[in-house]
Amino acid sequence: MMNMGSAWTKSKALPCLLFLFTVFSLNLAAAPWDDKDPAEVEAILDQKFAEGKYSSKGADTCLMCHRKSTKVMALFDGVHGNVNIKGSPMAELQCEACHGPLGKHNRGGKEPMITFGINSPVPTQKQNSVCMSCHNDDQRMVWSGNHHDNADVSCASCHSVHTGHDPISDRKTEVEVCTSCHTQQKADIHKRSSHPLKWQQMVCSDCHNPHGSLSDSSLKQMSVNENCYSCHAEKRGPKLWEHSPVTDNCANCHNPHGSVNEAMLISKPPQLCQSCHASDGHASNPVFANQKNAFNAGQSCMNCHSQVHGSNHPSGKLLQR
Ligand code: HEC
Ligand code: HEC
Ligand code: HEC
Ligand code: HEC
Ligand code: HEC
Ligand code: HEC
Ligand code: HEC
Ligand code: HEC
Ligand code: HEC
Ligand code: HEC
Repeated sequence: MMNMGSAWTKSKALPCLLFLFTVFSLNLAAAPWDDKDPAEVEAILDQKFAEGKYSSKGADTCLMCHRKSTKVMALFDGVHGNVNIKGSPMAELQCEACHGPLGKHNRGGKEPMITFGINSPVPTQKQNSVCMSCHNDDQRMVWSGNHHDNADVSCASCHSVHTGHDPISDRKTEVEVCTSCHTQQKADIHKRSSHPLKWQQMVCSDCHNPHGSLSDSSLKQMSVNENCYSCHAEKRGPKLWEHSPVTDNCANCHNPHGSVNEAMLISKPPQLCQSCHASDGHASNPVFANQKNAFNAGQSCMNCHSQVHGSNHPSGKLLQR
């Protein structure tokens, strides 16, 4: 194919940057076929693929009409617009590698192309299959059938490709994109005690694989506890005296995203402990005669049972040492 307009794309890079900061991944512009029946759009697209009428001049054809859009041109700031990257769309079918064959679209732009994002009438599975045609690798081995796939979240609702800076691929902005949909987690990470997500010292994808995994909640590890041990290795057993809810699931007591209670506890001790342990009998024990406040003050139950994660002390059966 032909030369890409890389010289004059670069000169547009700066104004684009400012523009992109406000655009994020949302595709707000409407295509003329957005209002069409999705089934009709799909049929036309299938027909176009069957006929295989790609443009003879690739991107140059498209840019005859689309070069005025700073958003379109920003493609050349990223990997997908770089002819020199092996396997990049630009090294092959160019724009049509993603948007499908031109067909009769150049007659006034009315015939549909493949468009992306939540407003597109093109079914999510079809949108995603475009991306997966090049990205079906280890990282997305279990994409199919994962929570996001099942909920019709498209690749393009997280990723922007017409940009040199994809906000979700940047640790400084990832959390912002994830929490634009996950409002519960957004609230949690701003609570009194939380993992340092609000300062971008940690990101959602430190714990989750956004492309899906074999564990519940798409964790990078096989279980909640394996996830926690990957950073809190000192909590991994075996201990001489285990506390069974700890070995069972750290989330029995902690909310990994954050909480109003200290140490991200799902509720405050003694209530937390009493949700499993009946308190009657214990308080009337003569041992506590002079320590009436021990149950409520400061460390509460942990005043005495300080080894709540388990004990390695020979006489630590009651998690007191
Ligand atoms: C003769 C002019 C012309 C050519 C050539 C052309 N288009 Fe378009 N295209 C249009 C018009 C007009 C629209 C509808 C108005 C708009 O959204 O810009 C449109 C819309 C689109 C849209 C939807 C935009 C949106 O707002 O969601 C995409 C995607 C698109 N074109 C891709 C392409 C690609 C890829 C090529 C090259 C293979 C191409 N076009 C070639 C005129 C053209
Ligand atoms: C890697 C796949 C890919 C390639 C290659 C690609 N696009 Fe896109 N295009 C997208 C996605 C995804 C969107 C939705 C917005 C976004 O994610 O940035 C989009 C959006 C658009 C839009 C709508 C922009 C708007 O204003 O909302 C137009 C027009 C368009 N592309 C034209 C082109 C043209 C012309 C080319 C070639 C120069 C091209 N695209 C190459 C994937 C691609
Ligand atoms: C024609 C093949 C092709 C298609 C289609 C394609 N990509 Fe890519 N993509 C690539 C290549 C090649 C790279 C660069 C890989 C590398 O550097 O190792 C890449 C890199 C990426 C990256 C990493 C970005 C970066 O800056 O390193 C993301 C995210 C991505 N693609 C998302 C998408 C999405 C979303 C779509 C669909 C809208 C898509 N791709 C469609 C070939 C493709
Ligand atoms: C829920 C948001 C989300 C969705 C949906 C999503 N991604 Fe990603 N993607 C991310 C995040 C976050 C990263 C960076 C962190 C990482 O690599 O895990 C990333 C990284 C990537 C990368 C570069 C690193 C790598 O994993 O190879 C590619 C390529 C990519 N995504 C492609 C895709 C494709 C293709 C789809 C659709 C099948 C998709 N993504 C759907 C969030 C998402
Ligand atoms: C420290 C690790 C960690 C981080 C960081 C993290 N998560 Fe989680 N997330 C988990 C664990 C563990 C679970 C499973 C909790 C359970 O089973 O009760 C989970 C569950 C979820 C769920 C399922 C709903 C639920 O509450 O059970 C969603 C949605 C989610 N996380 C989104 C996010 C988002 C968005 C971010 C970034 C703001 C994020 N997570 C950051 C560990 C983490
Ligand atoms: C476009 C909206 C959107 C974005 C952006 C998004 N998600 Fe989701 N996510 C969803 C939907 C919808 C579901 C499925 C419904 C549900 O379980 O909440 C989901 C489900 C999940 C689940 C599984 C929940 C469960 O029930 O076990 C996790 C974990 C998750 N997302 C993490 C992330 C992470 C991490 C990011 C950023 C990298 C992210 N999401 C970005 C919409 C989104
Ligand atoms: C990617 C690494 C990482 C993973 C995985 C991780 N943590 Fe953390 N955790 C940290 C860091 C870093 C801190 C320290 C935060 C600080 O000092 O502000 C922390 C702090 C904590 C704290 C103390 C918070 C406070 O307010 O005192 C608790 C409780 C905690 N993590 C529980 C968990 C649980 C439960 C899991 C598994 C669901 C987990 N962590 C998974 C890195 C991680
Ligand atoms: C039975 C409830 C319970 C379970 C289950 C639990 N924790 Fe805790 N955790 C606590 C309490 C209570 C505190 C705060 C009191 C203290 O230890 O000083 C705490 C504090 C922490 C802290 C911060 C202080 C410290 O000890 O470093 C981390 C980190 C932590 N837990 C990690 C984990 C991990 C990882 C798991 C799973 C292996 C887990 N917790 C399971 C109750 C629990
Ligand atoms: C999710 C339920 C659950 C929660 C919450 C919980 N525990 Fe436990 N705890 C257990 C179970 C189950 C055992 C094992 C009982 C047994 O072996 O008879 C246990 C054992 C103990 C033991 C040792 C008792 C013995 O006879 O060996 C102590 C002490 C203890 N827990 C204290 C606490 C404290 C303090 C808290 C609050 C920080 C707490 N537990 C929260 C379920 C829980
Ligand atoms: C002042 C110290 C102290 C405080 C505070 C305390 N305990 Fe104990 N706990 C003990 C001692 C000593 C024993 C062993 C004597 C006995 O069996 O009564 C014990 C025994 C236990 C046992 C095992 C025996 C049984 O009764 O089943 C559990 C479970 C337990 N405590 C839970 C808790 C919980 C939950 C709290 C907070 C509501 C708490 N403890 C507060 C000192 C304390």
